[in-house]
Amino acid sequence: MSTEFKALLVEQPEKKVFTRTVVTRSIDDLPEGELVVKVHYSSLNFKDALSAVGNPGVTRNFPHTPGIDAAGEVVSCADGSFQPGDKVIVTSYDLGMETDGGFGQMIRVPSKWALKLPEGLSLKESMMLGTAGLTAALSVQELVENGVTPDKGSVLVTGATGGVGSLAVAILAKIGFKVTAVTGKLEETDYLQSIGAERVIDRETLLKGNERPMLKPTWAGVVDCVGGDMLAATIKSTQVDGVVTCCGLVASIDIPINVFPFILRGVRLIGIDSAECPMERRTRVWQRLASEWKLDNLVGMVDEVTLAGVEEKVQLMLKGSLKRRGLVNLLDS
Ligand SMILES: NC(=O)c1ccc[n+]([C@@H]2O[C@H](COP(=O)([O-])OP(=O)(O)OC[C@H]3O[C@@H](n4cnc5c(N)ncnc54)[C@H](OP(=O)(O)O)[C@@H]3O)[C@@H](O)[C@H]2O)c1
Repeated sequence: MSTEFKALLVEQPEKKVFTRTVVTRSIDDLPEGELVVKVHYSSLNFKDALSAVGNPGVTRNFPHTPGIDAAGEVVSCADGSFQPGDKVIVTSYDLGMETDGGFGQMIRVPSKWALKLPEGLSLKESMMLGTAGLTAALSVQELVENGVTPDKGSVLVTGATGGVGSLAVAILAKIGFKVTAVTGKLEETDYLQSIGAERVIDRETLLKGNERPMLKPTWAGVVDCVGGDMLAATIKSTQVDGVVTCCGLVASIDIPINVFPFILRGVRLIGIDSAECPMERRTRVWQRLASEWKLDNLVGMVDEVTLAGVEEKVQLMLKGSLKRRGLVNLLDS
């Protein structure tokens, strides 16, 4: 097998200047690791967009290939935990951050970062979900495990047209929840309804009255993907004993909140960290995504690109105006 492959390479020719080009790399350029995988598909996540433009919160060392997600076939595994030809998913840990990632046709990683593709999902479907799907599913899992049930009322999802948000809407609808989607793109209402939202509201509607310490108790549960004022407004408008999950920071890293929702309504705020999620929980969630939570509308939720098409998606994502999740096809790149 050739040791050369195509990859998106981010370079830093001078301070604060980052370039992105599709180049030929060699396996010898990759970091050490037991597991070599021929990547078939990856997907574009917000972290990848940050890494691609040199955000030091994600990646400090360049040249670098981003891509926190990869699915493909095992080429070799030095510790025997996988066999050549096994289909595997590798997401997060350090992949695509300081470790060259899935926007390359080969990755070399520690074998403990990989899990076998669950039965019921293809490699392509697994990357239509990717880290966004895993994060959405971990968020839904927290709601379910903490007693949020469809009969208790509507579940709110913020950043609803985004990767995590749209997959959370679809999974919640699939398992019988009434979902209210919050979006900055009301023109996407038909799309959000097509993936399962019962109601679609704009950000201003959610934020109305947010200067007050508490808002009308409305949501049985919340999947928040944005942080900031919107997360504060969702916490203030969650019902007694409701659950709010928090995974994202696109609006802000701060939460301007007071203690009333917690001490007067028993609202629970739960953080979601897909990157360091233990392998046992990760495997269980992927199995659910391949079976009872399997989405039949995934194709319409993604836009497939080759490596050459990643740049345009990165720019749209950083502006908050990306409309469909980016599926990256490495086989055709
Ligand atoms: N904790 C974890 O394990 C984990 C895993 C994956 C992602 N994340 C984080 O989750 C967030 C979402 O990731 P993603 O991949 O879904 O990103 P994404 O596809 O870019 O989606 C983010 C969505 O948030 C909304 N949004 C953008 N800017 C906003 C703003 N200033 N105020 C309010 N809403 C805004 C937009 O949706 P609308 O236009 O529909 O409102 C946008 O589509 C990111 O912060 C990411 O870093 C965390």
